[in-house]
Amino acid sequence: MEPLGMTTIFLMTCFSCLLFSAWRSKSRTGKQPPGPIALPFIGSMFHLNPRNVPESLEKLSKKYGPVFTVRLGPKEVVVLYGYDVVKEALIDQADEFSGRGTLPLFDKFFQGTGIVNSNGETWKQLRRFALTTLRDFGMGKKSIEDRIQEEAHFLVERIKNTRERPFRPDSFLVHAVSNIICSIVFGDRFDYEDKKFLTLIELLDENNRIQNAIQTLLYNFMPRILDHVPGPHHKMAQNIDAVYKFISEIVTAHQKSLDPTCPRDFTDAFLIKMEQEKGNARSEFTPETLTRTTLDLFLAGTGTTSVTLRYGLLILLKYPEIEEKVHKEIDHVIGRDRSPCMADRSQMPYTDAVIHEIQRFMDFLPLNVPHAVTKDTKFRDYLIPKGTMIFPMLRSVLHDNKEFPNPEQFDPGHFLNANGTFRKSNYFMPFSAGKRICAGEGLARMELFIFLTAILQNFTLKPVIDRKDIDISPIISSFANMPKPYEISFLPR
Ligand code: HEM
Ligand SMILES: *[C@@H]1O[C@H](CO)[C@@H](O)[C@H](O)[C@H]1NC(C)=O
Repeated sequence: MEPLGMTTIFLMTCFSCLLFSAWRSKSRTGKQPPGPIALPFIGSMFHLNPRNVPESLEKLSKKYGPVFTVRLGPKEVVVLYGYDVVKEALIDQADEFSGRGTLPLFDKFFQGTGIVNSNGETWKQLRRFALTTLRDFGMGKKSIEDRIQEEAHFLVERIKNTRERPFRPDSFLVHAVSNIICSIVFGDRFDYEDKKFLTLIELLDENNRIQNAIQTLLYNFMPRILDHVPGPHHKMAQNIDAVYKFISEIVTAHQKSLDPTCPRDFTDAFLIKMEQEKGNARSEFTPETLTRTTLDLFLAGTGTTSVTLRYGLLILLKYPEIEEKVHKEIDHVIGRDRSPCMADRSQMPYTDAVIHEIQRFMDFLPLNVPHAVTKDTKFRDYLIPKGTMIFPMLRSVLHDNKEFPNPEQFDPGHFLNANGTFRKSNYFMPFSAGKRICAGEGLARMELFIFLTAILQNFTLKPVIDRKDIDISPIISSFANMPKPYEISFLPR
């Protein structure tokens, strides 16, 4: 066997052992949530399957209840399973549960700054700034809606040029969605053939792939050892450096042409804020936090939205009768002659329900992004020590079988009243809830609506295989649910 193969197997074994060493809590000052007993290595192998952690946790919740503890390597994690506990934690005890549980890998590259992986004052200030600036009228003459419509137009033209030839839609969607972030952050979109743009996307994409490598996962459990083990995780640092360089060049150009009275984009708004806080030695607004915040927007905003679109198109390929109803609604409300806009959505309950159902069904981040408690926290009858990692599981809410009968079935009826109006549900939490709720929720929902309606306004979807053979279950994974690869062709309407 190849030496590389041996390393991988060795690492996988270690990883499994670490992951499997679920453990029983030692009582400290208060009662800790229960959990499975740790038998050395093999004894606990039955508890957590590293290939499908969400399913294993669901099984444990049946045994230990909605609040329980497992041990992931050196870290204790409290799992919250079910709407009631997720809501009580993220909404009713929002402050205590607003911490981010960071992993060594993220610490290495983000060092606690930016939005996604920061805590405390840094997080508060950078998040508040991003939310204000991402609001539709946050900056410049062009609204965010304009930017998405513009991009949807380019995407539709590009699809037209495929002339009904089947292809994998992955990169078209990634390019369109990344361009929205480019437009917001840097002021303009890039041509789909632009070399710099393609390099940027390739770097981000490669890091996504590296993130799923076993060495990278392991890095989170034994960073000091992995620093000395060869593997793709070392490439990640180089890639991030290259992305930083790309961003810094654009920032420098912005600095030269900045007009403080008229910010053109997110970068300008940030530079103005930096200038205003110049006298404050502890300001959170520095060239460094600018690059990291920008990178966060790319990382958090691109994969999520483009995969959701890709999953949605696959589901519609499988169910042409659902696609047909969306076509009818588009023809009725928007027609063929103008671009879809957000004001149309309230008159399109069926399309709105389909988009909600896509997000509910796919359950993109089943474990959520790890949280942490910011102080010693009393929760129900338990005491959770400060800093403990928390998984407020989104799967347990999105696939609740009382709120959504037959949760494993794709059914837009989950979001429709009997009279055909849109049915709102508090269980719709693909963006999480509370103080850490996705900072790009508004943006993402605009993108999903405008891109999907623009595509369906112009095309009928055609599969390359028999519809009954289309498999809409996700690739089995632990952290993000992805659709299986597929080809599609688009027939102009
Ligand atoms: C369909 C698309 C998306 C989904 C399903 C999604 C989902 C999520 C989830 C579940 C979280 C973790 C929330 C928590 O910790 O409780 C999150 C965080 C975040 N998302 Fe999104 N997201 C999407 C699109 C976007 C977009 C387009 C942006 C870009 C602006 C974005 C920016 C962020 C940021 C900055 C955070 C970190 C928030 C914080 O830690 O305070 N997301 N997202
Ligand atoms: C449709 O049904 C919902 C809930 O059953 C109700 O709240 C709503 O008022 C109804 N709307 C119309 C137009 O009948």
